[in-house]
Amino acid sequence: MSETPLYTALMEHRALHRAAFHTPGHKNNPAALPDDLLTLDFTELPDTDSLFEAEGPILRAEQAASRLFGTKRTLFSAGGCSLCIQAMLRLAAPNGGKILCGRVVHRSAVNAMALLGLEPVWALPEELADAAALHPDARAVYVTSPNYYGELTDIPALSAACRERGIPLLVDNAHGAHLFFTEPVLHPIALGASMTACSAHKTLNVLTGGAWLNIADERFVRDAKNAMALFGSTSPSYPIMASLDWCRAWLEEHGRAEFCHLQARVRELKKQAEKSGLHVPGMGWWEDPRRWDPTRITLDASSVELSGLEAAEILRHAGCEPEYADSQFVVLIVTPFNRERDFERLEIGIRLLADREARKAVPLPRGLERKPVPHTIGIPPLPPARISLREAVLAPSEWIYLEESAGRIAAEPACPCPPGVPVVMPGEEITKDAMDFLRAYGFSSIKVLK
Ligand SMILES: Cc1ncc(COP(=O)(O)O)c(C=O)c1O
Repeated sequence: MSETPLYTALMEHRALHRAAFHTPGHKNNPAALPDDLLTLDFTELPDTDSLFEAEGPILRAEQAASRLFGTKRTLFSAGGCSLCIQAMLRLAAPNGGKILCGRVVHRSAVNAMALLGLEPVWALPEELADAAALHPDARAVYVTSPNYYGELTDIPALSAACRERGIPLLVDNAHGAHLFFTEPVLHPIALGASMTACSAHKTLNVLTGGAWLNIADERFVRDAKNAMALFGSTSPSYPIMASLDWCRAWLEEHGRAEFCHLQARVRELKKQAEKSGLHVPGMGWWEDPRRWDPTRITLDASSVELSGLEAAEILRHAGCEPEYADSQFVVLIVTPFNRERDFERLEIGIRLLADREARKAVPLPRGLERKPVPHTIGIPPLPPARISLREAVLAPSEWIYLEESAGRIAAEPACPCPPGVPVVMPGEEITKDAMDFLRAYGFSSIKVLK
């Protein structure tokens, strides 16, 4: 056989035996899913139903999920949460129009809005309820919750504001598919959202690509399959769909107990981290626990004078693979399929992060250091939009030096992390303020329209 670069890379990574604190939520744990999924990789056959014309076992599997989640309709996606986001936006605004959109947004939503010709009106999450009053012609409010760090938007308040205006609340709940099973229940559907896109594969025992579109508002049920079919592959993976079905059955039986156990274990670990001097957002006495995913572990590396990227490297040295790191934070995804030995390794990693002497032994590649973050200047005012999102995303673009970008139109979101809020969005003018802000965060180039 000739070279197999990807297969080989995966085999080599597996041989490292790192504790997995990243997606997928099954953590490659044999207890998470049946081991015969390869032998179930079938296609649309008379016995196996068809995703976008479901009337047999796929429909029954979706109905079982809908009963568990208490929705009007739950649909399977084998194209990730991205497909659910596309469908959700299409359903809420089939003829285009304005969407009030939290500025913290995944690129799948930006691209979907561009493809659908929607007109986003950007607002910071805390401004969305007021923005709804200012834009009575908006078709929907769209928000991402939880964010990557595990922080939740105030969904009960926002859904009440949306109900008052008669517009749907759409939630990108990519990181919160498990939140039906936490204590308290924090899933946006349970808190009043109209529709949610849930990346089951991120935090549950589902194969990568498996997601649910949850619909709580009867108005969207009829066209939901067509909206999914508009963007979805005609060859959805049966193993992925089977894993969604399996996961739902597992959640029915074990979800509550397993997440209760996980929450307690995570809490213990976070307390230890805090004790060793490593700040954990969401753990302060002043924090509202209903505003944080209790299973997400985000470590503020700056509290021990490290960048998040350096902290991630040190955790790798301790045998832990994190999900994400930026200049300040390192983020770890834990699920019931992490084993106790993973937690023990993470405890060792956390002790190493906090031990300024011991961690000197870890070789750190250059370029991961903390950048001096200009806390004083705050996020600049949102820049003016000069052309539509659709035009900006689809037009020819080029990379230029940031220094030369003032007055040009952005082709891509430019988003320093933290705070994780894009300073410019496609179609917006790069103002001098925006340019200065990005420079202060270490940006040196930016993609603009030609
Ligand atoms: C906030 C958010 N939304 C949507 C997505 C897209 O999800 P998927 O990869 O399941 O398509 C992601 C993926 O990382 C995400 O982080």
